[in-house]
Amino acid sequence: MLEPVIPIIKSTLNNIDYDMFYSIGAEAIKKGKLAVCTLAGGQGSRLGHKGPKGTFIVPFEKITSRSIFEIAAEKIKNAYKEFGIYTYWYIMTSKENDKETKDFFIDNNYFGIPKEKIIFFMQGEFPLIRENGEEIKDKEGNIVLAANGNGGIFKALEDEGIILHMKENNIDYICTCNVDNILVNPIDAVSFGIIVKNNADLCIKSIEKSNSDEKVGSIVLKDDKITVVEYIDMPKELTAIKNEEGSLIYSESHFGCNYIGLSLLEKISKQKLPIHEAHKKNDEYGEYIKKEMFIFDGFEMAEKPIVIRVLREDEFAPIKNKDGVDSPKTAILLYENKFYR
Ligand code: UD1
Repeated sequence: MLEPVIPIIKSTLNNIDYDMFYSIGAEAIKKGKLAVCTLAGGQGSRLGHKGPKGTFIVPFEKITSRSIFEIAAEKIKNAYKEFGIYTYWYIMTSKENDKETKDFFIDNNYFGIPKEKIIFFMQGEFPLIRENGEEIKDKEGNIVLAANGNGGIFKALEDEGIILHMKENNIDYICTCNVDNILVNPIDAVSFGIIVKNNADLCIKSIEKSNSDEKVGSIVLKDDKITVVEYIDMPKELTAIKNEEGSLIYSESHFGCNYIGLSLLEKISKQKLPIHEAHKKNDEYGEYIKKEMFIFDGFEMAEKPIVIRVLREDEFAPIKNKDGVDSPKTAILLYENKFYR
């Protein structure tokens, strides 16, 4: 059974609580308890960009155009100015884009961040299949593989030694961020302070849904557990329900910025996640099925999950499509409105 969740609303914190959470969060950040983890295994196909999405140059209007990765790097550098520490930056790549991603960082001199603070790890792959379950082969007869979805992060963190690295460096949480959101705010001392104070093992950051048709995952209670239901799987009759004030009841939306504690990471990495099937078509393989795991499918295992709602205009400007919604044009407007009005 699905029910709405009740978030902590960051914008309604009073000054005393805000300052208290900021200082708790800042102290934990200064101690190196938080690392950033960018999910960058996907390709920029919907964007029409050849290569890793993070290498896409955002054609700003009021400021210098720069890559998505450079914008992400600026957040690490700004946090250094604020807290006096470079947080570790884990970057998840896939077999398809690992080399190109690493080369891009080398070519850009790691954007001025000490290079030992940036650690790449590679997610796994699944075979592409036909409707009847048969694996697709290329001209040489090799099985065609593709990235196994952002839920591949958990096994990859374990297999690639990141969990060990966290333990060795006393890192308690990672903040996972979609690479395509140029306004994402992972090193957010106030939110991190709320997490630390509550001893939460999971925090899903939320924004209010703009309308019932918006293509974002819904954060819900499913059989009393906090989880995310992807927009395609969310029952239509629920998404449209409004309360007496006319606001959507299922309003809390997942935008791909989640804080996950080490203990939960370890638990999920030992678990098999469900597999979702996306039906696709291209010139090379015709109609095929791509199997994927979703990062939030492990969230139900959290023992102390919380949801923090932040303001959309502060933290959400995704670049997913070439034109229209969630395109460079819409993201640039949001980004420049926030910083360069
Ligand atoms: C994702 C969320 C959705 C949310 C939306 C907000 C998932 C499954 N869905 O949708 O709930 O509302 O963002 O913008 O997370 N990625 C990898 N490896 C992969 C596949 C994807 O690293 O194999 C990365 C992408 O590079 C991207 C992120 O995961 O940074 C999400 O991408 P995608 O799977 O395309 O999900 P969206 O449809 O954008």
